[in-house]
Amino acid sequence: MAASMKTVLNLVLISVLVSFTSSLPRFLHGRPKHGLLGAPKLPQGSVLPPDMWLKQKLTHFNYADTRTWQQRYFVNDTFYKPNGPIFLMIGGEGTANPAWMLQGAWIEYAKTYHAICFLLEHRYYGKSHPTPDLSVDNLQFLSSEQALADLAYFIQYVKHKYNLMSKDQKLITFGGSYPGSLSAWFRVKYPHLVDGAVATSAPIFAQLNFKEYLQVVVSSLATTGPGCNKNIKMATDTITKMISTDTGRKSVEKMFNLCDPLDTSQYVDGSNLFSNLAGNFEGVVQYNKDNRAFEGAIGTNITIDTICGIMTDESNGSPIERYAKVNSLMLSTYSQKCLDNSYNKMIKGLQATAWNSSASEGGRQWMYQTCTEFGFFQSSDLGDVQPFGNFFNLKFSIQQCMDVFGAKFNQELIQMGINRTNTNYGGYGMRATKIVFPNGSIDPWHFLGFTKDLSMESPAIYIQGTAHCANMYPATSDDLPQLVQARATIEKLIGTWLSSN
Ligand SMILES: *[C@@H]1O[C@H](CO)[C@@H](O)[C@H](O)[C@H]1NC(C)=O
Ligand SMILES: *[C@@H]1O[C@H](CO)[C@@H](O)[C@H](O)[C@H]1NC(C)=O
Ligand SMILES: *[C@@H]1O[C@H](CO)[C@@H](O)[C@H](O)[C@H]1NC(C)=O
Ligand SMILES: *[C@@H]1O[C@H](CO)[C@@H](O)[C@H](O)[C@H]1NC(C)=O
Ligand SMILES: *[C@@H]1O[C@H](CO)[C@@H](O)[C@H](O)[C@H]1NC(C)=O
Repeated sequence: MAASMKTVLNLVLISVLVSFTSSLPRFLHGRPKHGLLGAPKLPQGSVLPPDMWLKQKLTHFNYADTRTWQQRYFVNDTFYKPNGPIFLMIGGEGTANPAWMLQGAWIEYAKTYHAICFLLEHRYYGKSHPTPDLSVDNLQFLSSEQALADLAYFIQYVKHKYNLMSKDQKLITFGGSYPGSLSAWFRVKYPHLVDGAVATSAPIFAQLNFKEYLQVVVSSLATTGPGCNKNIKMATDTITKMISTDTGRKSVEKMFNLCDPLDTSQYVDGSNLFSNLAGNFEGVVQYNKDNRAFEGAIGTNITIDTICGIMTDESNGSPIERYAKVNSLMLSTYSQKCLDNSYNKMIKGLQATAWNSSASEGGRQWMYQTCTEFGFFQSSDLGDVQPFGNFFNLKFSIQQCMDVFGAKFNQELIQMGINRTNTNYGGYGMRATKIVFPNGSIDPWHFLGFTKDLSMESPAIYIQGTAHCANMYPATSDDLPQLVQARATIEKLIGTWLSSN
C-alpha cells in the first residue's frame, strides 16, 4: 500500500489485496483504497470460484444506444437444492472479492436455506469495464441507477442460465455500505424481482456535508475515556501554531514524516495534512475489530484501544509527539515510507483515466459518484466538538471535485445530484417492506441510515459496540453477544421472507 492522505471520498467495500504505489490517500473520503467493505480471510488451500461473465448494455436508459460490455460475476451452488432461493450479493465501490463466495454470514444462511449464491461486480470497478477508459465523458454511465438496472438484467440472465425459473424461487439481496444502499434501493425500485433485502451499514440519505461523521468518531474515541480526544485537540493546536513559521513547519514535516515539503502557500496542502491525520483515526474507528482479517486486510489488529492508548500514554511525550507516534504506526502498518500529503500529487493521481492506473482501483470512480450522486463529504465543519481542526471544510471537498473532474463539478451541480438521489430513492422517507437495516453504533456511517424500524417487516438492527458491516463477516469466538444475536435475527427474518407469499 502506498499513500496516506484521506480526503474527500469515503465509503465502501474493501476487496482483494493489491499493492499500491500511487499518491492516493489510504483513506479517501471515508473510503479505504479497496472500497468500503472488507472481505473475509480464507483458510489455506481454499479454491476460489472462477470469473464468470455476462453481456450488459452500456446504458439501460437509451434504447437507441446498443453498445455492450462484459460484467463479471461469481457463483457458488454447493448448498443449492432444487427450488431453493437465490441469494445475490451486490458488488460495490471496489473489486468484487470472490472470498465472499466461500465465507461470510450469508454463506451460513445459504447452508440453512439451500440457496444458490451469486456476487455481481459493480460496473466500473474491478474487472467490470464498460468503457475503454475513465474519462469524464465515459464516466457518465457510472451511476447507482445504472447499477440497479444491471442487477435486474443479471437476475433475468441467471434465472435462465441456471434454470431457476420456478415461481416459488425467492430472491434475497445482500450488501454492506454503499451496496447496502443498493440492496435497499433495488427492493424499492424492482419489488417484483426481489423478495427481501439485507442492507447492512447502508447510508440511505445523500448529504453534501457529512460533518456528523466526525461526531461519531469522537464518541467512539471517547469510549476509552476523555483523554484521547483531549490530547488530539492539543496536538492539533500545536501543529496549527507550528506551521505558521518556517522552522515550525520544518519540524512538523519531520515529525509526521511527510514525503514532500508542506506548501502552505496553498490552503489545500494544509487542509490535506489535518485531513490525513484525522484519517489515521477515522479508518480505525470505521473498522474497529470487525473481523476483516477474513479478507486478509492489514491493520486489523489496530483498534481504538491501540491508538487511544498511545494518545493517553504520557511516556510517549507531549500530545503532538503521541499524535506523530500514531501516524508512524499507521505508516509502518501499511508499509508506507512517508506520508504522501501533497495535494497536487493526489489530484494528479485521481485525474488518471487509464484502467491500469492506481486511481482505477476505485478511488476515481467512487469520487465521481460522490461528486455526482451522494456528497458524503466528511468535513471538519462540526466545530469545536471535534479535535481535528477546522481546516478540511466543505469547500476543500468541493475543490477536489472541481480539480479532478472539471470546474463544472461545482457545489450547485453536486447539490443538484444529491437532491436527485434523495428524490429518486426517498431518502429517510423511503417506502419499502422486507428490508433489514443492521448497523453498528460505532460506525460513523450509521448516522445516514435508519436506526428505527421502517415497519415490522423492515426492522433496523442497531448493534451496540460494532463498526462498519460487522454482521456480514464470518462469526468468531470473540464476537459480542449482540452481534451473534443480530446474525441470528437476520437469518430468521430471511426465513420469514422466504416462506411468506
Ligand atoms: C461454496 O462455499 C463452500 C463453503 O465455503 C465451499 O466449501 C464450496 O467449495 C463453495 N463452492 C463453490 C462452487 O465454490
Ligand atoms: C499487528 O500485527 C502485525 C503483524 O501480525 C504486527 O507486526 C504488529 O506489531 C501488530 N500491531 C499491533 C499494534 O499489535
Ligand atoms: C498502462 O497501459 C498503457 C497502455 O496499455 C501503458 O503504456 C502504461 O505503461 C501502463 N501503465 C501502467 C502503470 O502499468
Ligand atoms: C436541493 O434541495 C433543497 C431542499 O429541498 C433546496 O433548498 C435546494 O434549493 C435544492 N438545491 C438544488 C441545487 O437543487
Ligand atoms: C443503524 O441503526 C441505528 C439504530 O437502529 C441508527 O441510529 C442508525 O442510523 C442506523 N444506521 C444505518 C446506516 O442504517
